Amino acid sequence: MLNQLNADGSLRHFLTTEGLPRPLLERILDTAESFSGVIGKSVKKVPLLRGRTVINLFFESSTRTRTTFELAAKRLSADVLNINVATSATSKGESLLDMLHNLEAMQSDMFVVRHADSGAAHFIASHVAPEVRVINAGDGSHAHPTQAMLDMYTIRRHKGELEPLRVAIVGDILHSRVARSQIHALNGLGAGEVRVVAPRTLLPKDVENLGVHVHHDIRNGLRDVDVVITLRLQKERMHGALLPSEQEYYRLYGISREHLALAKPDAIVMHPGPINRGVEIESAVADGPQSVILNQVTNGIAVRMAVMSMCLEHKAAETEA
Ligand code: CP
Repeated sequence: MLNQLNADGSLRHFLTTEGLPRPLLERILDTAESFSGVIGKSVKKVPLLRGRTVINLFFESSTRTRTTFELAAKRLSADVLNINVATSATSKGESLLDMLHNLEAMQSDMFVVRHADSGAAHFIASHVAPEVRVINAGDGSHAHPTQAMLDMYTIRRHKGELEPLRVAIVGDILHSRVARSQIHALNGLGAGEVRVVAPRTLLPKDVENLGVHVHHDIRNGLRDVDVVITLRLQKERMHGALLPSEQEYYRLYGISREHLALAKPDAIVMHPGPINRGVEIESAVADGPQSVILNQVTNGIAVRMAVMSMCLEHKAAETEA
C-alpha cells in the first residue's frame, strides 16, 4: 500500500484517515482553524499556492466536494482546472493513465480525484510523478478523508475536544466511504465512544473490528449521544434488496424529532449530504436548531485549504531553497 506520508511524517498525499497519527489529524484541524479567519475577510485569499496548478478530476458526480475544493484552491491563490471527464478524450478511448500523464505534462502540482471505484485515488497516486500530489475526494465505498476531517472540525467547533463525546453514525454504513473515514478519524482523535446504528444488512462484516459499538435498535443507539451523524442510503452501490422499504427504514432509522429526543438535548445533527428528506432525516430536524449540516459545507473550504496547503508545503520549501 502506498505511503501517503513523507519520510518526516508530513502529508504527501491525502488518501485515507486510516492510521494517521493523532498529531497530524490535530494539525489539519488547527490549520483549518487558522484559515477560517481568511474566509471571513472581505479579501478571502492567501498567496500560499500562488503559481501552483490544481486539477479537479471528478469521475463521479459531486456538488459540495468539487466546489469547495475549487474555492479552497482559489483562496490559496492556485490556478484551478476542472476536467469534465464526460467530454474529455477518455470518451475517445484514452486510458486513465494516458490522460493523467498528459495532465502532468501541463506542469500540474495536484490532482483532486473522485471516482466510483474503491482504490482509484491510491492507483493514481502510485502512478503520478514524484512531485505531484493526490487528494482523495471520495473513492467507491472506501474513503472520503476530507469529508471526515471537515466533520471532525465541525464537531470540535460545536462541542469542543472529542475525548468526552459519544458519537452515533446512523444508516448505510456498509456502502459509506464517509462512515469509514469518520470512524478512523474519530478513533484517531480519541473520541470517547463511537457507535454505529444500522440494520444488519447495512453493516460491514466484522464492523466491531473498526473500534465501534454496534446498535441495531436506534432507541439504544442514540441514547445520550452528543453527536448524531446520519447517512444517505447509497442505492447506487446496493446490489439486491437490503431493505423492506424506504418507509420502513425511515420508521426504524430515520432521524425524526422523536428519535432525536433520545440524544442529549444539546446534541448536534450532521449529514455529509446530499440529504434525502423523509428517508434518512425529517425535514424539521434537517432545518432545525440542532442541525449543523450547512456549517459542515462551509467548514469544508477551510479544511480543504488546510489539506491542500499541507500536502504542498514541502514543495513550497523546495522551490524557495
Ligand atoms: N458529501 C459529499 O461528498 O457530497 P458531494 O457528493 O456533493 O460532493
